[in-house]
Amino acid sequence: MPPASAIALRPCSAQAHPNIALIKYWGNRDEALRLPANGSISMNLAGLETRTSVTWDEKRVARGDAFNLNGSPVTGPGLERVSAFLDLVRKMAGFDFRADVVSVNNFPAGAGIASSASAFAALALAAAKAAGLDLAEADLSRLARRGSGSACRSVPGGFVEWAAGASDADSFAVSIAPPEGWPLVDIIAIVSEAHKSTGSTEGHALAATSPLQGARVADAPRRLDLCRDAILKRDFAALAEVTELDSALMHAVMMTSTPPLFYWHAPTLTVMQEIRLARAQGLAACCTVDAGPNVHVICEADAAEAAARLIADMPGVREVRRAQVGGPAHIESD
Ligand code: DP6
Repeated sequence: MPPASAIALRPCSAQAHPNIALIKYWGNRDEALRLPANGSISMNLAGLETRTSVTWDEKRVARGDAFNLNGSPVTGPGLERVSAFLDLVRKMAGFDFRADVVSVNNFPAGAGIASSASAFAALALAAAKAAGLDLAEADLSRLARRGSGSACRSVPGGFVEWAAGASDADSFAVSIAPPEGWPLVDIIAIVSEAHKSTGSTEGHALAATSPLQGARVADAPRRLDLCRDAILKRDFAALAEVTELDSALMHAVMMTSTPPLFYWHAPTLTVMQEIRLARAQGLAACCTVDAGPNVHVICEADAAEAAARLIADMPGVREVRRAQVGGPAHIESD
């Protein structure tokens, strides 16, 4: 282990946005390494963020890591997941020090936005930098992936593609278009704030039990091509078609797993149907749903106002949130 004085440990704080997948990650080829069954594409969500600071404590190797989330200490499985992730950073840095991790989300739990992506992207950046490691974006994305698969997509900015890759070395995300490449808006229809009963990690492990997962994965390269092309050409009709297809395929796999996972509530389907009707009448809006009941309505900027009004009036919609396309994870101070 290098002497502490040679490492120049300093507290470090980083910020990352959550992301919404347009082509979904569902199922792993390797659970431990979080190597996904298929590639995925997402956009970062501006205005929503996790801010995380990490301080490595070189004097108190014997105590465990400490993790404070939104002002409360975290213990049990939440702390264990963070500690297991910090083990990876300790190994890279070549030291045994424990860490103090303080993390704050500016969006509430249950707001329809998965926090693990922004959480592990910010933690990867803050923990590595505080350990004196200067990682290239691809290596940071690979590291974040080990904490939560979708976190690798919150490292680069704008529209991001995570290539499934063949191994740990080539499974990371890159930006395919900057935030200003296409000013889309995500309008999130909150239909339930209840905590989901089956989290993503458990859900990924069930994907292979669905007879439909093989077909979903086999067709993924075609959908990735369609989605990437639509983003690069700003072709909303093409984006809408492939985004809705991909979301439906993932939910078909979820619903046909053993045991089955039904994340939709009745208002989830109402929003999806109403948005399809509105699109047929010319509104540039389409739907995608993650591992929960809330609906992300992706819109062109000039359709956002009308879409938000329409969604707010739909039965079962409790709240509407909005996010534009966000930038990369970044250091706040060092
Ligand atoms: C439905 O990245 O949350 O949101 O790696 O177990 O943390 P873990 O899973 P996670 O899975 C995301 C699933 C999804 C689709 C997506 O974001 O691609």
